[in-house]
Amino acid sequence: MSVNKEIKKVTTNTLQKMKAAGEKISMITAYDFSFAKIFDTAGIDIILVGDSASNVMAGHETTLPITLDQMIYHAQSVVRGISRCLVVVDMPFGSYQSNSEVALASAIKIMKETGGHSVKLEGGEEAVDSVKKIVSAGIPVMGHLGLTPQSIYKFGTYTVRAKEIDEASKLKKDALLLQDAGAFAIVLEKIPAELAKEVSESLHIPTIGIGAGGHCDGQVLVMHDMLGINIEFKPRFLRQYLNLHEQIEGAVKQYITDVKSKDFPNESEQY
Ligand code: KIV
Repeated sequence: MSVNKEIKKVTTNTLQKMKAAGEKISMITAYDFSFAKIFDTAGIDIILVGDSASNVMAGHETTLPITLDQMIYHAQSVVRGISRCLVVVDMPFGSYQSNSEVALASAIKIMKETGGHSVKLEGGEEAVDSVKKIVSAGIPVMGHLGLTPQSIYKFGTYTVRAKEIDEASKLKKDALLLQDAGAFAIVLEKIPAELAKEVSESLHIPTIGIGAGGHCDGQVLVMHDMLGINIEFKPRFLRQYLNLHEQIEGAVKQYITDVKSKDFPNESEQY
């Protein structure tokens, strides 16, 4: 019997047990009630209310514009749709970078107003004080290393991170620092698979990869990418499970045709 199937609610503790048992962790993003309900019913371990909402929900080019209140709105909707999975809420750009007091206040606001179970923030050494402060208030924190989209203007591109030895060494150090600060898991985004393997093996907390290879303890994908809603984004790491863009467009075209031709509604579709 898998750890996942034995439990009624996924907690941070469950994730540690899954790592120890070698059982992979599944995570997906969601931003609203209806999708969260489907993903939870399907048996997903973690829903991430990602700040990727800024891109896929609001249409911004980067994750920077989304606000704390907008993240809270998305998280509240997700929490209403789930009964079993763990909900992680991204702390948006500007809600934690200034200092650890600000970070704690933002994390408390998220937990109080959403009913989510944990928060995620980006960064290594520079985020450690905030992670410690938030964890000491009893709020579980997920870290995020590698490609950290809130720093896009520092990186300049969305290409693979930590290919060079200096950046790879910093990432390994940062992962250990986050673990020591009390993070319960770390997202590794777009880094070489070998590096992700080394980091995952060096930690007792789980790593969740996106574009970081198969040796991470779990995987995460953005729902719009894996369901084929957003078809412009096709990185090598993405496995697209559906082509919802095509299916939805086809359905809406058919609906328009049916309305225009007076086929809809028919006798049985009216009172
Ligand atoms: O915001 C997000 O969707 C994320 C994932 C890409 C990990 O942080």
